This record gives sequence, C-alpha cells and structure tokens, in this order.
Amino acid sequence: MNNQDLITEIRQKVDIVDLISDYIPLIQKGKNYFGVCPFHNDTNPSMSVSREKQIYKCFSCGASGNVFNFVMDYDHVEFKEAIKILGERAGVEVNGIRVAPKTTKFDRYYEMYDIANKYYQNNINTKEGQRAKKYLESRQIDDELIKEFGIGLALDKNNALTTILSSKDYSMKELEQLGLASNSHDAYINRIMFPLHDISGHVVGFSGRIYDNSNLNKYLNTKETIIFKKGECLYNYHIARDHCRKLKSVIIVEGFMDAIRLSQIGHKNVIALMGTAMTGEQMQLVKKLSTNVYLSLDGDNPGQTAILNIGEQLVKMGLNVKVISLPNNKGEHDPDEYIIKYGQERFDNLIENALNYSDFKINFLKIGVNFNSDVELSNYVNSVIREVSTIKDEIRREIILKKLAIEVNLSYNTLEKRLNEYLEFTNVVNREEEVKHEPLPKKKVSSKYDKAAYVLIYSMVNDPWAIRKFEKEDVHLMTKELRYLASEICYYYHKYGTINMADFYTYLTDKEELLVVYNFIMSLDYEDDISVKAIEDYIGVIKEYNMRQEIKRLNDLIKRENDPIEKAKIAEKIRLLRIGE
Ligand code: CTP
Ligand code: MN
Repeated sequence: MNNQDLITEIRQKVDIVDLISDYIPLIQKGKNYFGVCPFHNDTNPSMSVSREKQIYKCFSCGASGNVFNFVMDYDHVEFKEAIKILGERAGVEVNGIRVAPKTTKFDRYYEMYDIANKYYQNNINTKEGQRAKKYLESRQIDDELIKEFGIGLALDKNNALTTILSSKDYSMKELEQLGLASNSHDAYINRIMFPLHDISGHVVGFSGRIYDNSNLNKYLNTKETIIFKKGECLYNYHIARDHCRKLKSVIIVEGFMDAIRLSQIGHKNVIALMGTAMTGEQMQLVKKLSTNVYLSLDGDNPGQTAILNIGEQLVKMGLNVKVISLPNNKGEHDPDEYIIKYGQERFDNLIENALNYSDFKINFLKIGVNFNSDVELSNYVNSVIREVSTIKDEIRREIILKKLAIEVNLSYNTLEKRLNEYLEFTNVVNREEEVKHEPLPKKKVSSKYDKAAYVLIYSMVNDPWAIRKFEKEDVHLMTKELRYLASEICYYYHKYGTINMADFYTYLTDKEELLVVYNFIMSLDYEDDISVKAIEDYIGVIKEYNMRQEIKRLNDLIKRENDPIEKAKIAEKIRLLRIGE
C-alpha cells in the first residue's frame, strides 16, 4: 500500500466526531455536532463537526480541517506524528509511512540548539564533568534521569560552545541573538544545564544551575529570543502531554527538580512553571492537557500565594483544581525535598488527599483570624460564604456551611440567608455578562466576485461535475492563490479519480499558503448541494470580472498611447468586449 492509501485508510477509520469528543465535549444539533473551539479563547460553542463530511470548522476563528489537522493543531505535532497517533487509534500499521519532515524558518536555530544540547550532555560524562555528576548524585539524580531529561554541563571555560558553533558556520551575532553567547563568550559557564523544549519538543533554551559554592544566581535562563518565550514555556510539557491525556490529569510544580522527581516516582503527567508566575498563555496550554489540575507548589509563602492566584484563574477557566498541601518547613517544602525526605508513598497520600481549590481557599482564609474579634470573625464568615457561593455543587455548599456554622457558633439559617444573597448577586452579574457577551463576529462580506470563486472551489471538492465544468470553461480565477488551489484540486481529482473535502485537507498539509486559503473557504458556511445552474452562474460572474479587468487594462493602455490609430484599435477591442464578442 502506498502512503496516500494508508493515510486515507486511517482518515476513514477514525471518525472525526469520536476523535474530537475525546478532547472537547460535543453536543449534537441537527446533523452536526458543536463544541467550544479549542483553537481560540472562547466559551461559545462555535466549532461545528460534521460526521458526514468528516471535517470540523470554527465559525469564530476560522480553524478547520480533518482528523489530522485537528491532532496537529491541538497537540502541536507535525503531520508525521499525527499519522502515528491516529494510526494507533485506527489500528493501522504506520511504520512504512515516510513523510518529509516539515521545514520551518527556525530549523537553523533548532539545529544550533541541538548541537549545543548534545555537546552539554556529552560534557557531563567526561572527566571534567565529574564534580557536576557528584553534585547530581548528592541530589539523587542518577544516570537514568540525567539521560531522560537530557541534563548536561557547561564547562568552566568561556569559549567552549562558541568555538564549536562558530566552526559550524554560525556567526557570533546569531549565537548572541539566540542567547547562547554574550559579549562574544559562552553565555553559560560552569553550570548544570537543563534543556528547555517548546511544545513541539525542539530544544529552544536552557536553564543553567550553579553546582558548587558559587554566589552567582542559582539559575540562569536563556533570554527571550525568537524561538524562546519564557511566558509560553512549561518544563516537560512535550513529554507530559500524552501521559496527561491517559491519566486525565496534570500536576503543576514550580521547579525542574520537582518535575524530575515526580516523574521518577511515576507521575509523568507533571509540568513545571519554572517559578511561581503563570501567564495566561501557559494557562491555555495547561487547559489543553487536562481539565483536572493538581497544584503542587511549594509550601512556603510565595508558593501558597501563587496557588491562590493561579488556582483562582484556572477555576474561572472552568478547570477542576485541586491543591496538594506541602509543609512550610525548611528542607521539606517542595515536592522534591518532600519525596526525598518522606518517600513516594507519603507523597502519593498527599495527592490522594488533595483539597478542592475552594476548600484550600477557605482554610487559607482562616489563617490568623482572631475569633474573639467581632469584626475579624464577621469578615471571615463573609469571605467564606462568598467563596462557597462560587461552588456549583449544592451538597458541598451545604456541608461547608454546616461546618462553618458549628465553627463560628452561628445558626445555619443565618449563614444560608447570606449565601443566598451572594448567589442572587452572582446570578445577576452572570446574567449581565451573558448579555454583554459579544455576538460572533460577522464574516467579512466579500465581493460578489470573491464569493463566486469561493463557492466554485467549494463545489469542486464536493462534486466532480464542477471540476469538469471548471476545466471545460477554462475559468481564470482572480488571484494566484485561488488559481493554484483550483489547479491542485483538478490535479488531485485526476490522479486519484475522486475527491472529498476531508482528504483534500491532508493533501494540502505541506502546502501552507494554499491550506490557509482552503481553510478559509471551507469555513464559509455554503450549502452542500449547489445546483448546476448556480455553478454556471458563478462561473459567469467570474468571467464578467475577467472582462472588466481586461477593459480596465485596455483603458489604461489607451491613456498611455499617443498614436491615434493604435488608440482607435484599442477602443474597438473595448467595444467588442462590452458587447460580449
Ligand atoms: N528559578 C529561576 N531563577 C532563579 C530561581 C528559580 O528561573 N534564580 C526557577 C527555576 O526554574 C526553578 C524554579 O524557579 O526550578 C523554582 O525555584 P526554586 O524553588 O528556588 O528552585 P528548585 O526547583 O527548588 O531548585 P533546587 O532544588 O535546585 O534549589
Ligand atoms: Mn528544590
């Protein structure tokens, strides 16, 4: 079987509605299914999925495609990887498939980082790496983990990496721009190196840790570059992704060491923030991993404050957030230290007993409250009830309120009354927000000529009759992209003897500019059974456009022509065009 057949077979065996429902909830309306589009920030169900056509499209952001496109965009993987993922799902052997890797304008930089990464990794196993290795050993990072996480070493020299990369034709300017050198020297000197990957798995930066009694900054991170954005980076994301999907949860920690340790004891669905800050971009990325999030940040004050900030926002995004409570004691306040000190089993217990975010917050609100002060007590009660009003589960609300009533020695009824006031208030706010919610952006209205071309192309992938008509009439579309796209459709049809919307997406996978146009046209919601007469009319419209363009060109020509005889000839041509000769 050739590549194309295999790919088509996989596409046919994986039903798009089944696939997408594994990622986002879909609701059936008529013959299509609808869900909240994962490709832009939204809460409206603007993505529609068609079982019949085996494609999805979002009416808000215009994302569209077949099963391969969905996996590629959702998981940020290349076509080849999407084939593997879906091949497995379809039970189709894909080992024989060869797909040219996608090239990007950053390949040169990825290669450069690859070289640096290999070089650093090699250093750690040399004689000069012995001290670093000892340090890692002392922190219970063994050879297996070193290999798994690609931990390396920048030597105590200021021109080791720069020499290597310069000899491979990378300029010092490039090295500096990409953060591997500064002031014509290696950027990293005498540090243990943790490679940082982008979501697709390319090494795009490093974090270097001191390992002897140096008083330099503990960690040195790659500066922002065109391939490394700290606010979009989550340590171990590319590895954790599959595990999160299987385990249906993700664990968020602060540091590398924490992520590595959790992974070592079997929690491979772990990612690290690299600090206590979390950006909106990072939250969106987490949302793609799972809707069940465990926050396992440090037990110290910055860690706990971060849990409150981050937890609040993740809950607002609709995620189920649980908090793993670590002690606020030196030497046991981060997951790595805790596991080293108390072992895997006790940490697993912490996970088991993780608190719902709202319970964590309520506990937090109690800290330092003086129950003998009327003001403090009433503030405390009100803030707890406000938090309870955000909980959707009525039973949980009642349980918490009953406990609170006993704790502060007030009647349940009083508390419930206050809760209802808050609930009423949030309802009003929600209702207002609903009203305020912007309607879906109106599609940009295109000219009748654009529309004619779009509908024609739409029909061509739906109905070979339109292809044949297009060829017979020798239609000349108005832009280069549209012409290329149409000619690819014809080519595909003649080569494979058939064509459909879903398979044609796959065909365009490595033709990015055309894919953009095709995507756009497919996202326009045209009728499926466009009549023969309508197609003929649209072709007429396109021809009218061509004629007008030609007249315009001739008119320009007349203006520049000095010879009266030539002028008359052109005028005659225009006249003939106008009367349709
Ligand atoms: N960090 C950083 N720069 C610093 C300090 C910290 O980028 N100067 C980031 C690192 O990604 C680090 C994370 O913040 O992993 C958490 O910091 P911290 O808790 O101080 O480090 P640990 O992960 O506990 O590292 P170690 O156990 O080696 O001290
Ligand atoms: Mn630590």
